[in-house]
Amino acid sequence: MDGETRGNPFLRGNFAPLRSEDDFNLDLQGALPDGLTGSLYRIGPNPQFDPVERNYHWFGGDGMVHAFEIADGAVRYRNRYVQTPRWQTENAAGRVLYGVMGNPMTTDPSVMGTDSGVANTNIMLHAGRLLALEEGHEPFEVAQGDLAPLGYRPFGGRVTAHPKVDPRTGEMVFIAYADGALPLSEQISWGVAGADGELKLRETFTAPYCSMVHDFALTDRYVVIPVMPLTGDIKRAMRGGPPFAWDPQQDTCLAIIDRALGVASLRWVTVPTGYVFHVMNAWDDDQGLVVDAMRYPQAPFFPLVDGSPGKETSAINIRWRVDLSGLEATVEETVLDDLAGEFPRFDERYAQRPHRHGWFSGQQRRPGDIRGDCLVHLDLQTGARTVWSEEGIGGVAEPVFVPRSSDAPEGDGWILTVLYRLDRGISELVVFEALDLAAGPIARAAAPRRVPFGFHGNFVARI
Ligand SMILES: [Fe+2]
Repeated sequence: MDGETRGNPFLRGNFAPLRSEDDFNLDLQGALPDGLTGSLYRIGPNPQFDPVERNYHWFGGDGMVHAFEIADGAVRYRNRYVQTPRWQTENAAGRVLYGVMGNPMTTDPSVMGTDSGVANTNIMLHAGRLLALEEGHEPFEVAQGDLAPLGYRPFGGRVTAHPKVDPRTGEMVFIAYADGALPLSEQISWGVAGADGELKLRETFTAPYCSMVHDFALTDRYVVIPVMPLTGDIKRAMRGGPPFAWDPQQDTCLAIIDRALGVASLRWVTVPTGYVFHVMNAWDDDQGLVVDAMRYPQAPFFPLVDGSPGKETSAINIRWRVDLSGLEATVEETVLDDLAGEFPRFDERYAQRPHRHGWFSGQQRRPGDIRGDCLVHLDLQTGARTVWSEEGIGGVAEPVFVPRSSDAPEGDGWILTVLYRLDRGISELVVFEALDLAAGPIARAAAPRRVPFGFHGNFVARI
């Protein structure tokens, strides 16, 4: 690795990529619950070659899947690169060919204009297919067992990494930003893949400016797309400035679309200035709709429009209550909890319905540090917050809820997450009773090496 990239924080410590694909039986402590059978699939960036760009960004590395398969009282671990076309081309060449995040200025002319997807951000099951997703390309399917590449799914264009599966219909609803003919355009699309996994609908509207829209909210009736001033600007990029930058001169707003009526029904509502990477849950009612999300006062990880470093900020859980009953939509924002964190999750059987329980990776000791240092449960009915942590933790991954059974009450089940142990330099899968984090893990499965920090994961039950 050259001297310039070595200083990049996203190539150091447990952000640094692995260079092996392994199969391990993990070292188990405690007892796995009888009803917990299936695989936790997690994904994150893991560049197969050392980046040559000084400004390598965490979001730009090749995807790597880490699968923790729980069966017969044991845990097996498997990690594999997502072998996208880009990964295969660079692998055959034996070197980096693509600019980070598709940057044409640093892309080798031999691959200019070819697919640069890295499939590194989320991994989820839909219509029996395991899909690896990122911001700017179609979902890339991998095999559930050996994680072999099965290729892109035809979604009519780019799709972001946080589609929502409607629990009533089995449909997958998705969005795409910067979805015009020109790079970093103001166009945003939304669409639907049916329960069979096939594209059913895709339509586009024009936002006031190009925004990086990482996540959105879905209710029975509405699609809610936050357009927040982490702006994309191709002219700025051509002048040598940052392609994406924080620009609070622009409004922070929500695009609200009635799912039955499509973009013809588009309404806008302004919300307090801020940035949301992740929504927890949302639902609608007679007055309008409710969105629970983790909001930053300013987008982290990205510079200001003049290229100077952005402010380090942290996110907290907030609720937007949007009143759609009048001519002008209005919004009221309330704080649900003031502990910093990221990666909010809930019991997804309650998607699109009022929910009581939420979990996230907390930042108690280091607000704004994406690695997380504790695991948090919020009871939104009582307002109680439960925090679990212990000595030696260098990171707490996104918590994933698994219900004890399909008809168990809300929150009755387990939380799975992956801890990075600074003290031992390894990672471990940990299992908690979801409503009793304070009791600590009921089972731990330690890997013989670290698992790099990643983004998202989902559990696929095997019955
Ligand atoms: Fe995300």
